[in-house]
Amino acid sequence: RFEEVPLAPPDSIFKLTAAYKADTHPDKINLGVGAYRDDNGKPWVLPVVKKATDILLNDATLDHEYLNITGLPEYTAAAARLIFGPDSPVITEGRVASVQTISGTGANHLGALFLSKFYGWNDKRVYLSDPTWVNHHAIFPQVGVPVSTYPYYDPQTIGLAFPAFLDALKNAAPRSVFLLHACAHNPTGVDPTREQWGAIADVMLEKGHFAFFDSAYQGFASGDLENDAWAVREFVRRNVPLLVCQSFAKNAGLYGERVGALHVVGASKEAAARITSQLSVLARAEISNPPAHGARLVSLILNDPALFAEWKRDIKTMAGRIIDMRKELHRLLTEELKTPGNWDHIVNQIGMFSFTGINPTQSQALVEKAHVYLTANGRISMAGLNSHNVRYFATQLDKAVRG
Ligand code: LMR
Repeated sequence: RFEEVPLAPPDSIFKLTAAYKADTHPDKINLGVGAYRDDNGKPWVLPVVKKATDILLNDATLDHEYLNITGLPEYTAAAARLIFGPDSPVITEGRVASVQTISGTGANHLGALFLSKFYGWNDKRVYLSDPTWVNHHAIFPQVGVPVSTYPYYDPQTIGLAFPAFLDALKNAAPRSVFLLHACAHNPTGVDPTREQWGAIADVMLEKGHFAFFDSAYQGFASGDLENDAWAVREFVRRNVPLLVCQSFAKNAGLYGERVGALHVVGASKEAAARITSQLSVLARAEISNPPAHGARLVSLILNDPALFAEWKRDIKTMAGRIIDMRKELHRLLTEELKTPGNWDHIVNQIGMFSFTGINPTQSQALVEKAHVYLTANGRISMAGLNSHNVRYFATQLDKAVRG
């Protein structure tokens, strides 16, 4: 009885959360998982989410019936408007097939599954940025889509490996699928500039490539929802074939509610209807119908102008605190501790994460000696830093770097 089942390794991100919880050291810090914390290191229930929750609790018309297979229509429609823009031709022409998913992971999975069945591949594989969110490497093979990588991060400059990235786009078989992070690249915090996005789109159009956008951090890159949707909207404007995986885990602080959506852009309204019908078949076999509560919360927030305005303020609060932590960490390292090396990337990178540039041995030393939990690739979740622990972290990082 399953005697032959081998032991799987623990998940590289969530094992850090478990180790952090088990650690009794008073100065422990969790910089592993990308989850927002307030200045006291506590999870933050967004005030707008509290308000929306109260509205739902007092709504006597609600029940616990099934949602549609494709989810709550007023949620998926508003989610599509949020990423594409309400006036986008793909919205006004009804060309988006939108399905509610189990957060961003579910959207990636459903998107990958849909492509594996219906995409006209020359070369069945997905190109992932090197590096990328570790789970991308698991999601695609799970549905029979092999993974290759394209150069993205240049350790010399701690920035974008732009020429090599463009070469990879040029050298891939026509109609290849490239996964792109819509904004706030995970794990590097390095995004292409608008000009670079334009050049990427040019090559993708020329080669007939497909853009598989993962948008898990809209609002976290710049504090502005519109700004952070720019790359997706620009690709739509240029008619690059694409889909978008969308998550409200981070920007609405709804990690455990699993609120996401997959938006596949079709060539016409009829095509979108056919795509929706197939996504519906796939979703039915896997989850039957998505969960209601989180989608109701996000739907309220997106569809009510006052709540929407409040949400934007909450996003600015989160993004602003992270930027403050970047500045303070940078100041401590460069001015006070005079830590060897250049640390400007801490303030230049954007979003939830910073790719510190430290090596796996230094990362391990931080985990084992300093009770600071971070992934082996040197990524830190900036949201885990606050005014009480940033000095301790800077001091420990300084020690690790000096060896
Ligand atoms: C992360 O990268 O830390 C987050 O996206 C959480 C996760 O699911 O890995």
